[in-house]
Amino acid sequence: MLSVEKIKSSIKALNAEYAKIKELPPEERAAFGQEMNARRAELNRQLQEATDAAEDAEVAPIDKTAPSAPNQAIPRFNLGSKHPLMAELNKVLSIYSHMGFDIMEARQLDNEYNMFDTLNFPKGHPARDGYDTFRTSENFIPPAHTSTMQNRALRRYRERLENGGQIAVVIPGRVFRNEDADATHEHTFYQCEGVFVSKDATMGQMLGVLKNLFETYYGQKLNTKTQPGYFPFTEPSLEFLIEKPKSLGGKGDGWLEMMGCGMIHPNVLKNAGINPDEYKGFAWGGGIDRLVMLKYGLTDIRYFESGSLKFLEEF
Ligand code: DAH
Repeated sequence: MLSVEKIKSSIKALNAEYAKIKELPPEERAAFGQEMNARRAELNRQLQEATDAAEDAEVAPIDKTAPSAPNQAIPRFNLGSKHPLMAELNKVLSIYSHMGFDIMEARQLDNEYNMFDTLNFPKGHPARDGYDTFRTSENFIPPAHTSTMQNRALRRYRERLENGGQIAVVIPGRVFRNEDADATHEHTFYQCEGVFVSKDATMGQMLGVLKNLFETYYGQKLNTKTQPGYFPFTEPSLEFLIEKPKSLGGKGDGWLEMMGCGMIHPNVLKNAGINPDEYKGFAWGGGIDRLVMLKYGLTDIRYFESGSLKFLEEF
């Protein structure tokens, strides 16, 4: 193909030639003009073609053999990843789910009624201060534990009891405490609550559920034990401990308190419209952060909420 420049100079030459028309005898002029016009039309067509081609040439040709994004080791866009707490919480929920528990999400803002009243904290009792609750200026409470959800869960699934079934639900949630942060305390962390109610729920069933949870989560047999605890919403109340396994840095002597648990207090059932003479239940709750810290040997709980990319990229 001729270059744009060459065609332009041909058009110029053609125009100069055209001037000769005046020197021709009149009878020859028409034929000459027609021929010139035909040549000019052809040159203009060539000029358009050459200009288009020159413009196309400015766009880099596609190299079909170049590696495409999916084949590259480094993704073009950094889409981030799941926060380790959420990834681990999902594993915990999956274990519960396999045991037959429903899952219900907790709230991040609640009130005095659910935080204390439904849970059998006597009015004005010092135990209400033990939870270091934050309060909004309207007196709402960002929940200090997921137990805040017990009444709602009991009411939501109460029908199942009436239909001859049982209540089996776990409730993960974000909780908040107005206390000084250090390596093992954070103002914001995650808990998971469990509630089970049936005609004949037993403490043995509860211990079986908890042992199974921890052994499945850590992927090994564990030594576990309980010790007496105190919570207004359970009677008796226990603390559930696991022996720190050697594979997770234990030296065969450390017991870790992982959860609070116990048989649901009759008043808590009553507050949800469930007859404690007919039904029994157990409940438990514990921190997710601590669970994850043990699994990965983390020494400071504050990393989780720090937003530190250096930390997050390790997962
Ligand atoms: N809510 C308690 C806490 O945060 C833990 C707990 C204890 C939950 C006993 C329960 C329970 O459901 O039955 O310290």
